[in-house]
Amino acid sequence: MAIGKTVLVTGGSSGIGFSISKHFANAGYQLLWVSLVKEEIDIAISKLRSEIPDCNIDSLVLDLSSSDSAVKVYNWVKENQWNVDVLINNAGFGTFGFSSDIDIDRELNMIELNVVNVYKMTRLFLKDMLHKDEGTIINISSNTSFQPTPKLSAYGATKSFVNHFSRSVNEELKILKSNVKIMCVCPAAIKNTNFRKAGKMDKLKTFSGLATTTSEEVAKDVWNGFIKHKDFVVSGWKMRILYRISGLVPYGIQQFLVRKEIKEVQ
Ligand SMILES: NC(=O)c1ccc[n+]([C@@H]2O[C@H](COP(=O)([O-])OP(=O)(O)OC[C@H]3O[C@@H](n4cnc5c(N)ncnc54)[C@H](OP(=O)(O)O)[C@@H]3O)[C@@H](O)[C@H]2O)c1
Repeated sequence: MAIGKTVLVTGGSSGIGFSISKHFANAGYQLLWVSLVKEEIDIAISKLRSEIPDCNIDSLVLDLSSSDSAVKVYNWVKENQWNVDVLINNAGFGTFGFSSDIDIDRELNMIELNVVNVYKMTRLFLKDMLHKDEGTIINISSNTSFQPTPKLSAYGATKSFVNHFSRSVNEELKILKSNVKIMCVCPAAIKNTNFRKAGKMDKLKTFSGLATTTSEEVAKDVWNGFIKHKDFVVSGWKMRILYRISGLVPYGIQQFLVRKEIKEVQ
């Protein structure tokens, strides 16, 4: 049991964040959640406590797409004298459609949340972890970070940033011979979270396609990756097979398959 250890999960009140939180709570971690909607947090805390009665949880309602949000989270942690052992940058959303049509402000908001906030949170908490020479940052990217994703162009690009930044800084940590780790996780399309609805992707074929996964499978992959000190996790067993063989498939065929996946079905 990890008594006295603390995990900070952005977007912990729903979807992947909620499922991952359960693994950490069961292992004895104190949970710190930062999410957007207070009612969602309250409902999620009641649900978690009904499943794990002795879980220790604190929460902060905050819009993580605002420019000072990372500093606010960091100050909240410091004021309460918590020590974050594990930071999970999970909160995020996607926009769907032709780039010429999507509302620019909505996409800028997504870039603030998926890129700028992840960058700032990583920088702020990494500094403390380096000082102690311990800690893990888990950044949730996506399979859309692997190749061009038409109609998910800006979203895929935000996740490419998360993928590249996380893995590169993790390599720096190896050069520094640090015990701190950054693990990057790339889940496949998930059937059972709010992400689809929030991004108006309800009819997108990829969510009923070959390589879909669930928040529970992603959470299990994250937990197993964490305890095995992995650098990089492709989540969803079907996506892992596709990822391994993708290098053998010519680019034109890969993109033909991607175009099929982003079709909308009734
Ligand atoms: N679902 C997929 O197919 C899929 C695939 C690959 C990667 N991912 C990534 O996985 C992560 C989690 O997604 P999910 O599928 O679990 O989606 P989800 O169920 O919609 O959960 C998103 C979480 O992020 C929080 N959030 C959203 N906007 C926020 C903001 N501005 N400020 C603070 N918190 C905010 C939400 O809080 P509230 O509930 O309070 O609004 C919610 O807790 C995202 O980074 C997503 O890009 C998802």
